Amino acid sequence: MELTTEQFSKLSKLVYKKLGLQFDDKKIYFLNKRVEKRMTHLELKTADEYLFQLGYCDANGDEMQALANLITTNETYMFREYEQLGAFADVCLPELVAAKQKTADRRIRVWCAGCSSGEEAYTLAVIIREVFPDSKNWDIQIVATDIDENMLQLARNAVYGDRSVKFVPAEYRKHLIPTATGSRIDPETAKLVRFQKLNLNDQTQMKAMRGFDFVFCRNVLIYFDDVSQRNVVNNFYDALNRNGYIFLGHSESIGRITSAFHLKKTEGHLLYRKE
Ligand SMILES: C[S@@+](CC[C@H](N)C(=O)[O-])C[C@H]1O[C@@H](n2cnc3c(N)ncnc32)[C@H](O)[C@@H]1O
Repeated sequence: MELTTEQFSKLSKLVYKKLGLQFDDKKIYFLNKRVEKRMTHLELKTADEYLFQLGYCDANGDEMQALANLITTNETYMFREYEQLGAFADVCLPELVAAKQKTADRRIRVWCAGCSSGEEAYTLAVIIREVFPDSKNWDIQIVATDIDENMLQLARNAVYGDRSVKFVPAEYRKHLIPTATGSRIDPETAKLVRFQKLNLNDQTQMKAMRGFDFVFCRNVLIYFDDVSQRNVVNNFYDALNRNGYIFLGHSESIGRITSAFHLKKTEGHLLYRKE
């Protein structure tokens, strides 16, 4: 089966509308293979039948979900983009804790958006427990979200192979419990994280996310076009508390997407904060 240019255009428009993901002409082969898989599963003979099913017979979104599980890029590992995590650990978290200590507020909320199989969310849990020992007496939650159900299942399982944990510093390895197939995240650390399915392009779901002190959305927006990026980042702005920080990936420049955040230069780090 080969998608014609017209079929590819229809498919990429549908995917863009529902998921915000952009696939240019170079991705025709990639989408072809994924559509073929879905057609075999659904016992459909032609791409037109599949497009009809996706466009007109998918009121509950199950087919778009099944396709999303096949077309998202899920690459991740613990302690990815280490420098930025340093800024979180050394600057942002201590600043937030000090500010909250002056009040009765003992709650910290982190949103890890586009968490894939969970390594990033557990990395944040490890950091919080390590740099803020009193965290056990606070109400702390990392809400980790992704659109891909298969990844969320792996994330909840919390068992990882060597590739995922390769960059965990030696002194933090106590949060990993060896198992027959790899390493399990220590349950005390894992319990800081709650996983939830969420589509970053679903306005209703996004508007329900409020009261966060930090938003991490790294290596996700690169797959979105400018309009979706702006839309998603505006929603992050609304989801953050005042003085909350946003962290995007190295290749995702927030300054290019919005001017809503205040740029703060501290200890060699460029940080973006809601003022
Ligand atoms: C490359 S991974 C990034 C993982 C992690 N944040 C990191 O930096 O290591 C991108 C993730 O974004 C998710 N994603 C893509 N489009 C999404 C959408 N519309 N809503 C929610 N998650 C999405 C994918 O399922 C994938 O797991």
